[in-house]
Amino acid sequence: MQVITYLTYLFSSILFIFGIKQLSSPKTARNGNLLAALGMFLAIVITLFDKKIISYELIVIGFIIGSIAGAWMALKVPMTGMPQMVGLLNGFGGGASLLVALSEYNKILTGIEGPFNAATTTTIALSILIGAVTFTGSLIAFGKLQGLVTGKVVTYPLQHPLNALLLVTVLIGGGYLVFNPATVWIVVTITIISLVLGVLLVLPIGGADMPVAISLLNSYSGLAASMTGFVLDNNMLIIAGALVGASGIILTNIMCKAMNRSLMNVLLGGWGNAPTQAGAQTEAEHKPVKSVDAEEAAMIFDSAQTVVIVPGYGMAVAQAQHAVRDLANVLEKKGINVRFAIHPVAGRMPGHMNVLLAEAQVPYEKLYALEDINDDFPNVDVAFIVGANDVVNPAARNNPASPIYGMPILNVDYAKTVIVNKRSLNPGYAGIDNELFYGDNTLMYFGDAKEAITKLVNELKNA
Ligand code: TAP
Repeated sequence: MQVITYLTYLFSSILFIFGIKQLSSPKTARNGNLLAALGMFLAIVITLFDKKIISYELIVIGFIIGSIAGAWMALKVPMTGMPQMVGLLNGFGGGASLLVALSEYNKILTGIEGPFNAATTTTIALSILIGAVTFTGSLIAFGKLQGLVTGKVVTYPLQHPLNALLLVTVLIGGGYLVFNPATVWIVVTITIISLVLGVLLVLPIGGADMPVAISLLNSYSGLAASMTGFVLDNNMLIIAGALVGASGIILTNIMCKAMNRSLMNVLLGGWGNAPTQAGAQTEAEHKPVKSVDAEEAAMIFDSAQTVVIVPGYGMAVAQAQHAVRDLANVLEKKGINVRFAIHPVAGRMPGHMNVLLAEAQVPYEKLYALEDINDDFPNVDVAFIVGANDVVNPAARNNPASPIYGMPILNVDYAKTVIVNKRSLNPGYAGIDNELFYGDNTLMYFGDAKEAITKLVNELKNA
């Protein structure tokens, strides 16, 4: 039986690796997801047969409740709510690792399993630390994105020294536990401190740094699962956790670059220094803007040869991806070259725009990453911004006082004409004004993205 279990775990691990590989391209992502899910299904089934399970009742109840909750969330949560859902699921992963570590400790303490050895107590202590930090940190991230906890940067005196002190205390407590494993109060203390640490690490994060936090917590949840694998002596969990941990940290790195944060700064919990919105406003808000209606916008599009569409969070809110696809189709029918420029942190989660455009059947080859299209903007006749704001804000290039200074942006202002569709001059996620709106070559096309673009498409069809 053990050989079959190991072989199934090996096969599942291979499915995970191929699954992750396929997730790296939108074309194969759906298949990759299915492969990884199949791997997890096989691993769970073989574990249920292999382990000496005393009663299946609780497992079945958990399975039913979890499946119903998972299916409900998958069906009901809107695309705009995905980041907080991912945050919550990360938290559950961390919480599960914490509970497994505590239960394993209890089993050894009460003589059901055992005896204690240095390797087990070390991994139990690490599992408690990482699991608890992931659990409470993710709940705070969820609360922030859901608007239940303030989304602002929260700072307090001696923030970093306090966090460092708590971390060192947990590590010292864990070290003590290795030599004195039966000290229950140490386990309780490091659990409580780790739970507090999770809150304190994520609470200061605000504004535009949140995706980095979610991605890092995702990586932590993988590490927590991996640690639990060591606690339970389960190779599958070690491999799956390591894959999540590694891919999470790679994604964190990509996010850091896109948001202009150093990975070290993130790892050391340097978010307290994240830019605040103070000083973000510029004099620009008092400047006049030029606006166009659907008919005027259609005339400008009609005389263009190359158009680049830049989608942002507003497209997701308005669910305008189908209208955007119709616009691209009608322009292409007129012989106009249409491309999409995708900023890595456009929207509210990695790949947000790609997912929406794929849903609307926009071909992948029309989607260009920032580095692949940025140099071409001077040759573009019309850059059409659909509900994007921060990711096209030239202040990131021009204004050292701006909180987003240094963040890579799409250089849409270099295009011959820029048409920005949004409902007002209100700021985006970072809460700062956008000097793009007041540019000489910028025209504002106000309105809800879906309605406004549908009108524009009708005008173009009639032209
Ligand atoms: P934002 O800067 O957030 O701007 C979105 C704009 O959409 C708003 O200014 C809003 O203006 C407009 N809008 C809202 N509803 C609309 C509607 N129905 N129709 C038309 N426009 C609408 O978006 P972005 O440029 O995509 O930048 C993303 C921001 O989110 C960045 O700051 C990024 O750091 C942050 N962030 C990203 C992620 C990831 S991983 N993608 C995760 C969390 C946070 P009006 O109100 O005037 O319409």
